[in-house]
Amino acid sequence: MSSGVRLEGLEKSFRGPTGPIRAVRGIDLSIAAGETAALLGPNGAGKSTTIDMMLGLAKPDAGQVSVFGRSAREAVDAGLVGAMLQTGNLIRDLSVRELVTMMAGLYPDPMDVNETLELTGIGAIASQRTHKLSGGQTQRVRFAIAIVCNPDLLVLDEPTVAMDVEGRREFWNIMREFASRGKTVLFATHYLEEADANADRAILMAHGRIVADGPTTEIKARVGRRTLRATLPAIDPATLAQLPGVASSERHGDAVTLSCSDSDQTIRALLQAYPEAKDIEIVGAGLEAAFLELTGEPDLEDAEVTVP
Ligand SMILES: Nc1ncnc2c1ncn2[C@@H]1O[C@H](COP(=O)(O)OP(=O)(O)OP(=O)(O)O)[C@@H](O)[C@H]1O
Ligand SMILES: [Mg+2]
Repeated sequence: MSSGVRLEGLEKSFRGPTGPIRAVRGIDLSIAAGETAALLGPNGAGKSTTIDMMLGLAKPDAGQVSVFGRSAREAVDAGLVGAMLQTGNLIRDLSVRELVTMMAGLYPDPMDVNETLELTGIGAIASQRTHKLSGGQTQRVRFAIAIVCNPDLLVLDEPTVAMDVEGRREFWNIMREFASRGKTVLFATHYLEEADANADRAILMAHGRIVADGPTTEIKARVGRRTLRATLPAIDPATLAQLPGVASSERHGDAVTLSCSDSDQTIRALLQAYPEAKDIEIVGAGLEAAFLELTGEPDLEDAEVTVP
């Protein structure tokens, strides 16, 4: 059990209309048993493709998947893995309880059906037909199906899509409760806030690669920077980079842009040293914007961002 999940050199391309789409371009990743990790990235980053290979649903073009020392397929068949995929409908014309019971019957060591219904908050809709559920209720039933095999690894691909705010909050509470039983969890999301609140670790993907990987606190610190812009001709950006609280600086014509880890310190020092600076603006990198900065830049495509 201690080996957790290992992905080594994973690659996957799809045939696209104008040539191959390199969805996953070499992923190396270990997730320790008991860890909760979030997989973050914009649309098309390769999150679902990676997850599909981890679950044995897609065959890698290159590389290896090992789940608790087994192949993906073996681990899934043994009931060690529960998954909530991004797409897929519930089987129709069954009650929620019948469906969860049927799924439990497929595995060697399932959870108690009543416990599952209760834990996932669908006890009250247990006798409802699966095709008459709301979007959020459907998501809960899909979650129940994912955990009813009592998996050691839970894989969730954007699980809170279609849930309202309250539904999301409840969902994450249940997920954390489940994770606290010593489970390994990997979930894909677009929201850094969700990762921050519910994972120990954030893995950022862009263009089929991992571009940052670290404790959520470090990722947040990294993207929590502010940007200071000012009109300040004739000062070398390297000199400005020496100001306190500045992480990096660049110049475009008369304008300088300073990326600040502590913009309060920077603005004081800047005005003291260069009182001629004008048109000053400081903008907080919103999480989304900061995230795009980390993952969206074309020149990141071949770079690895190291989180300090
Ligand atoms: N079955 C497929 N056939 C062709 N191309 C595919 C297929 N599945 C995925 N792709 C392409 O591979 C790339 C990665 O897709 P993937 O679904 O892994 O991204 P994602 O990170 O999960 O995105 P999202 O946040 O939108 O779910 C995309 O360019 C997508 O169009
Ligand atoms: Mg996806």
